[in-house]
Amino acid sequence: MIRPILRMGTPSLLQPSAAVTQFDTPELHALVADLEDTMAAANGAGIAAPQIGVNLQVVIFGTGAPNPRYPEAPVVPKTVLVNPVITPLGADEEDGWEGCLSVPGMRGLVPRLARIRYAGRDPRGNAIEREADGFHARVVQHECDHLWGILYPMRIRDMAKFGFTAVLFPELDDNQDD
Ligand code: NI
Repeated sequence: MIRPILRMGTPSLLQPSAAVTQFDTPELHALVADLEDTMAAANGAGIAAPQIGVNLQVVIFGTGAPNPRYPEAPVVPKTVLVNPVITPLGADEEDGWEGCLSVPGMRGLVPRLARIRYAGRDPRGNAIEREADGFHARVVQHECDHLWGILYPMRIRDMAKFGFTAVLFPELDDNQDD
């Protein structure tokens, strides 16, 4: 089911989310299905459970296919990640433009770790552990930030690099509202 996406200004988006304690339950599978439906309807690169009003540590990201909102970005594997832990692989950072379904119509330049290892579980409780860099690493860091109550504008260092997508990138398809 497509759920309403909470927008910046909603207090619960700034709260840390609780770890999932029971796996392979109907409730967890229903939450994942709602996240998938909502992300697909919005052409999102990822979405986190707090964005649909559920403060649990569940994120999904990647589509396994090019994303119309980020046509130049590499393909990220379709992933459901529960109770994630991110470990930096080195201290290198990269700046990249980000948007967020909870901050519609805007983009900002955000520094992120260039290389990470991430670990967690899938909805059945199976362990996931991967290394990622570039756009893949950026998406994971952005989505996991939602679980700690952090929205990407809070990471922007140069507020001159924050604005409306239609102004910053007029060449992008303006049928997208985020
Ligand atoms: Ni977001």
